[in-house]
This record gives sequence, structure tokens and C-alpha cells, in this order.
Amino acid sequence: MARHLITSALPYINGIKHLGNMVGSMLPADVYSRYLRQRGHDVLYICATDEHGTPAELAAKEAGLPVAEFCAQQHEAQKAIYDGFALAFDYFGRSSSPQNIEITQTIARELKTNGFIEERSIRQVYSLDDERFLPDRYIVGTCPHCGYDKARGDQCENCTRVLDPTDLINPRSAISGSDRLEVRETKHLFLLQSKLADEVEAWVDEHGKDWPVLASSIARKWLSEGLHDRAITRDLDWGVPVPADTWPELAAEGKVFYVWFDAPIEYIGATKEWSDAAPEGEVRDWKSWWYDVDTDVRYTEFMAKDNVPFHTVMFPATLLGTRDKWKKVDYVKAFNWLNYYGGKFSTSQRRGIFTDAALELLPADYWRYFLMANAPESDDTSFTWEHFAATVNKDLADTLGNFVNRVLSFSRKRFGDEVPAGREAGEAERKLGEQIAQLLAEYEGHMETLQFRKATQTLRALWSAGNSYLEEKAPWLEIKTDQDGAALTLRTAMNLIHLYAVVSEPFIPSSSRAMRSAFALPDDTAAWVSPDEARALSAVPAGTGFTVPPVLFAKITDEDLASYEERFGGDPDA
Ligand code: 2FM
Ligand code: ZN
Repeated sequence: MARHLITSALPYINGIKHLGNMVGSMLPADVYSRYLRQRGHDVLYICATDEHGTPAELAAKEAGLPVAEFCAQQHEAQKAIYDGFALAFDYFGRSSSPQNIEITQTIARELKTNGFIEERSIRQVYSLDDERFLPDRYIVGTCPHCGYDKARGDQCENCTRVLDPTDLINPRSAISGSDRLEVRETKHLFLLQSKLADEVEAWVDEHGKDWPVLASSIARKWLSEGLHDRAITRDLDWGVPVPADTWPELAAEGKVFYVWFDAPIEYIGATKEWSDAAPEGEVRDWKSWWYDVDTDVRYTEFMAKDNVPFHTVMFPATLLGTRDKWKKVDYVKAFNWLNYYGGKFSTSQRRGIFTDAALELLPADYWRYFLMANAPESDDTSFTWEHFAATVNKDLADTLGNFVNRVLSFSRKRFGDEVPAGREAGEAERKLGEQIAQLLAEYEGHMETLQFRKATQTLRALWSAGNSYLEEKAPWLEIKTDQDGAALTLRTAMNLIHLYAVVSEPFIPSSSRAMRSAFALPDDTAAWVSPDEARALSAVPAGTGFTVPPVLFAKITDEDLASYEERFGGDPDA
């Protein structure tokens, strides 16, 4: 048994996420955590909302709410959706928590003590009408590279180039629209990443060896472009305040840390939130997961590729610079993009599917399975309604759901409400057991190496093996001439259902529960299936009572498909 710390990139607070956000972070982290828990490991899966920065302030303004209230509401709204998707976080925190504020400030102080944070004067845009500096997205103007006239101060959405607010042509305030702007000198804290570059590179060389290529190549590319010192404070009302005991002048000016400085620290902050929220009598020790635990804890992070530089370079640089014993990541599972009909998911253009809408349409397991079976692991992948419907209908409804229903209904009709006894297992069952044990070993291998697409393929192969066995034995014919033979077939098939319930749980937890609870097993606590158990297929003995659960997966009809495409916008080229 090992201790596994798992985090997924923190979703921004500024709105409900789409399926593309979830497939590259929270969902695979949940699947992996569930699997490890089933295998008996001690798992802590931590996530939180990322609540600071200009996106949060601007979204609050648009909603007409004070930012603290907006964040509190949105946190609850996101949390409810993730519950709906059965994401089993050990804790879902908030980066605006007192715990994160305290730890972020501690880390900043440590960095200063070690000479890695320095105060510098820089030139920034100040709005005379708003009476404030305009960082990042608070300023809009024309992109000097492509001429797009709504480019933001930090990045041009059109050509994706990273910008500095002072680069913009015809700049204006995103708050008031005012163009009465001037450039003023102001002091900010800088993280001296250049001084840490060699150390970070050595750390990536040592630890990045086993990461997926996507993660290690992005880390190396960033390092090869040179690690520059970075401003880590902003002039905003909302954020982790610069501590007054360490930087009195900046604190008096109301400076806060830049969102990308405090967000990854919230992985630690949320773990402390989890500790602090321990119910009476339960001891939760956040430090035992994060502090001085280099080899006792294995730490895996999940994220989409745009987050990789921050997690493989900037956050490690921050932690290395503290000269303290903070745990750093062991394995970075990075994902490409999930597209919508080959194009980007887009809120403004009403393209794609948002997590709340997805849940209104269909149960979580349909989405969980499809998304993981098509996870953008080695390349970008594309969502289409046709592909989604075909996958649900074929894999979930036909291969798994129909098998379960057919076996249980037929057995009840012919043998009543208990698993029939019949004959001892024969050659066909021995062959089937071997095949199942082998597929199970393959499945475990893919899960251990976090290859989720391959894992779902193997899971499907396990389900198919049951169908082939059933077709071959054809109990509906067998029963006419050989009652005991038919009973053996059905008993074996019911054992397969139980095995499917156990091993499919990481991907389709609620359907798994329905399958498992079909059997009235007095002591059904097994978390996983051993190779011997897979071979024997006898966990559900003859005489066990069972019920037939309602249809597990409804088929998506052509009419459904047409209405989804109509509602969400289908193929733009069709
Ligand atoms: O890209 C994003 O959605 C960010 N909110 C991810 C933050 S990850 C972590 F570092 F907090
Ligand atoms: Zn541009």
C-alpha cells in the first residue's frame, strides 16, 4: 500500500466549465483516484476553485455582485456540478481561503529570505478616471501584431501572442472604457526565476524522465527559452495580500499576489482546509502529505497542456526557492485539447457542451465513459454528437447494459430469483476465466500507467468477452435440452456482471453500484478482483438472491441526436 497525493488543475471561478475543461483535469484524476482506492492505497485527491485574478473580478462585475459574494456562489455552483459527475474529491477547496492566504504568504517570505524575491519599479498603465492601475485583462486595445481591436492586456485572443499592457495600440480601460490613461511607475515583487533556472532544469532532468512526452517536452521547451524573472504581484482589490510584516510599503498600497503565484499553492492550502474541516474524532494531518515526505508520498498532477509550464517550471521554482521541504510533483499527466467538431469549445459562440447542460441531458456515467474513452492523451480529439451517440449505444447500451439485462431477466424467468446452481464449470468456463484474468491484468497495467484510453478499450474487451461467451453457449437454446448447462452459463454470466461492477467502478461508478447491488451477497466488501478470482468466476455462488435492475443505459435515438445538434450546434460545415 502506498500513499498517493492527487491534484487536478483548479477550475477558474469565472463560470461553469465545459466538457473540454473536465476531461483534461478533474475527470481523469477522479478515475485514477477511484482505481487506487480500490487497490487499497491511501489516496488524497484535492481540488479547489481558482478564485483570484482579473477574470474573477471582471466576471463578478458583469454579474453585478461583489467579488467575494460572486466567488462564494460560483464555488457552490461548480461544486454541485462536480458532485453530479460523481467526482469524489477528498476535498474541494477555495483558493481564497484563509489557509491559502497564510501558506502563500509564508512561501513568499521564505523566498525573500533566500534572495529569490525582489522589489522592482516598473511602468504600468494607470487609468485617471478609474483611479487605479490596469493590469492584465483590465485593459483592452488593438493588438500590435495582428490588429485585432479587442486584445487584452495580457494576451491577444486572436493571434494568441502574449502581450504587455503597454504594447497595446489605442488602449482603453476594460472597466470604464476610458482612454484617459497614462504610464506610471509602480513597485512590484519579482520572483527571480533566472537565479533558479539551473536548479529547475536539473530537477526536470531528474524527475521528468518518466512523465508523458507531452509534459516533459513542454517543460523542456520553456526551460530552453530561458526562465525570466516574473512580476508576482498586482494592483487588484481581490487576491492574497502582500504581507505587511515583510513588505510594508507594497502592502499599504494594497498589492496582492498574482493569481498564478497563489493558485498552485492552493493545492497545499486546500489540503490544510481538508485538515481543518476534519469531523470530531478524525485526525487529518495535512503536513503529512506535503512536508518532508519526499519518498513516502507519490504525487500525481492532472492538467491540460496550457497549464504544464506553470506546474513543471514555475511552481517547482517557487517550491525549490523556499529551501524548505515541500513535496514536489512526481508525475505530471498532461492532456491535449478536446475540440468540438474540430474547432474550439467557445462560450461566446455557443459552441460545445457545458458541464451543467451535459448533466441535464444524460446521467454522468454516459459522459464519464465517453470522455475517458476519447481522452485527448496523445493528440487533440474531437467531440461530435454522432460519435458520442454511437459510443453510448454500442459500448454502454449494447455491450454492457444489454448483457446485464438479458442475463438477469432470462435467468429470473427460467430459474427464479436466485442464482441457479447447475453443473460444475467446464472447458468453456475455464477458457473464459483465463481470458478474463488476462484482460484484467492488461487493464490494471493501463491504469497503473495512467493510459486511460487503453484502459477503456480493455474494459470494453472485458464486456465483449461476456457477450461472446453468451452467444457461444446460447442458454436460450441450451435450456431446451440441458437445464443444468443453461444454469451454469447463467451463473457464470452473473459472475461476470459482478466482476464488471467491481472493475468498471472508476469509470462508471453509479452504474457499477446498480450492477453490484443486483446481488444480495451478505458480505460483498471486496474492493477488487484477484487473478484467481477472475479465473474462477465464482464470487456469486448459486443460491444468491438477485433482482433485475432497471435498464442501465438508454439508447440515444436519431430524434435525440437531432435535438442535441439543434440545441448545441452541430457540425458547422454540415
Ligand atoms: O487554467 C486554469 O483553468 C487555471 N485556473 C488552472 C490553475 S491550476 C493550479 F495551479 F491552480
Ligand atoms: Zn493579435
